[in-house]
Amino acid sequence: MAGANRGAFSGKIGFVAAAAGSAVGLGNIWRFPYEAGQHGGAAFLLVYLVCIILIGYPVMSGEITLGRNTGTNPYNAYKKLGSKAWSFVGIWGIICGIMFLSVYNVVAGWAFNYFIGISFGNLLQVEDYGAYFTASTADVSDNFVYSFGFMVITAVIVSRGIKGGIEKASKILMPLLFALLLGLIVYSFTLPNAMEGIKYYLIPDFSLINVETIYSALGQAFFSLSLGMGALITYGSYLNKKNSITEAAKLVTITDTLVAFLAGLMIFPLVFSQGQSPSAGPGLVFVALPGIFHDMGPLTGRIVGSGFFLLLCFAALTSTISLLEIPATFLVDEKKWPRKTIVWLSALTIFIIGLPSMLSQGAVDSLTNFLFYEGQSKSVFDFVFDVFSDTGLPLGGLLLVIFISRRWGMKKFNEEIAVENPRYINSITKSFLNITIRYLSPLILGTIFIVTVLQKFFNVHIF
Ligand code: PHE
Repeated sequence: MAGANRGAFSGKIGFVAAAAGSAVGLGNIWRFPYEAGQHGGAAFLLVYLVCIILIGYPVMSGEITLGRNTGTNPYNAYKKLGSKAWSFVGIWGIICGIMFLSVYNVVAGWAFNYFIGISFGNLLQVEDYGAYFTASTADVSDNFVYSFGFMVITAVIVSRGIKGGIEKASKILMPLLFALLLGLIVYSFTLPNAMEGIKYYLIPDFSLINVETIYSALGQAFFSLSLGMGALITYGSYLNKKNSITEAAKLVTITDTLVAFLAGLMIFPLVFSQGQSPSAGPGLVFVALPGIFHDMGPLTGRIVGSGFFLLLCFAALTSTISLLEIPATFLVDEKKWPRKTIVWLSALTIFIIGLPSMLSQGAVDSLTNFLFYEGQSKSVFDFVFDVFSDTGLPLGGLLLVIFISRRWGMKKFNEEIAVENPRYINSITKSFLNITIRYLSPLILGTIFIVTVLQKFFNVHIF
C-alpha cells in the first residue's frame, strides 16, 4: 500500500527532523520537569535515563521497523505481519493517540494563551502566577478559543501532507527551540540560589526510588519519545529503505532526551531561586517561568517570554501534527477518502472529545473531581492521561515487543533493518536490540504494567 500517492519523507534528515519534532514537545518542556519535581529530581532523572536506554530506544526501533517493512498504518501493519487479532494492538494504539491528542491539545492551548498574554496582554504584570494559572485553566472561553485555534493550525499543516507541511516546519523550528533553551539555562544559572536547584536535579537521593518513580519515569519515556501508540509506525511507513533505522532512532532518542534534560536544567534553578516548590505539578512551567520574565523588566521580559512560549507552541505543534497524522494515515489507507476531508473531520472530532478534559480544570466541578483513586481526587484530564498515556502507552510497547519477538520473529525484524544497511548484521546495536526486545523489555514492561495497574487503579500493593 506504500504507493507513490501516499507521499514520503525526502530522506533521513527529513525523517529525523519530523520524528524528533514529534518527540520533542510539551512532554519535554512542560511535563518532564514537573514529573521530575514530583519524584525526587535527580532520582527521577536517573531512572528515566535507564528507561530510555533499556525500553525507549528498542521500542522506537521496533516501531519504525514495523512501519517501514509494511509501509502502512499501525492497524494494517499488525494485520499484515500477524493476524486479524493482532490488528487490535494497532487499533488500541490509534485509540490512545486520539485520546492523548484530545488532552494534549488542551495543554497546547494553555501555552498558546500564555504566548498571547505575554506578547500582547498584561501577563507580565500579574502578582501571583500560581493563582493566575489556576484561574486561567478554569476559564472556559479562553481555553475554548486557544485550543480550538491550536487544533485548526494543526489540521491546516497535516492536510498539506508529509513533505510540504510536517517536514518543513520541523526543520526550521527545532534549532530555534534549542538555542532559546540554552540561553535561558545560562540566565537561570546566574540567579541567586541557582545552585540548590542544580543539586536537586543532578545529585540523586537513591532512597526516593520506588515503584511509583519507575512507573512515572517509564510513562514519561513513552510520552516523550512518542511511543506506544503507533506514531512511529506511521512515520516509519513513509521512510525510505535507504535510511538506517537504528541510526535514525538513535538521533531521535538523543535529541529528545537532551531537550528534556536541558528543560530540567533551566527550570530547577529558576524554581529554587524563586523559593517555589519543585513538586507543584502541571503548573510548574506556567508558574516559574512567567515570574522570571516578570523580573527581567517590561521590554526584555516581553521579548524573551513571548519567544519562549512561542517556541513551546511550536514544539507542541510538531507533536500535535504527528498525533493527528495517526488517525489520518489510518483513514487514508483504509477508507481511501480524500486526505483533506479526513484531516478536518478527525481534528474536529478529537477537539470535541477533549472538551470534558478542558472543562475539568476547575470549570465544571463534576469533571474536575471526576473519580477517586491513588488516594486522591482525579479530574477527567488526569484520568485520560493516566489511562491512555501512562498506562496505555507502555501496554502498547509491551504488546509491540511481544509481537516482534514472538510472532513476527527476530529474524525478519533484523532482516528489515539490514536492508541496504548490511553493517547492522555484525553490530553491537543488533545484539543490544535482540536482547532487549526479546527478553529485557517484555520482562520489565510486563512487570511494571501489572504491578502498577494493581496499585494505581485497584489499590493492591505488591511491593
Ligand atoms: N512526544 C510528544 C511530547 O513529548 C508527545 C507525543 C506523543 C507526540 C505521542 C506524538 C505521539 O510532547
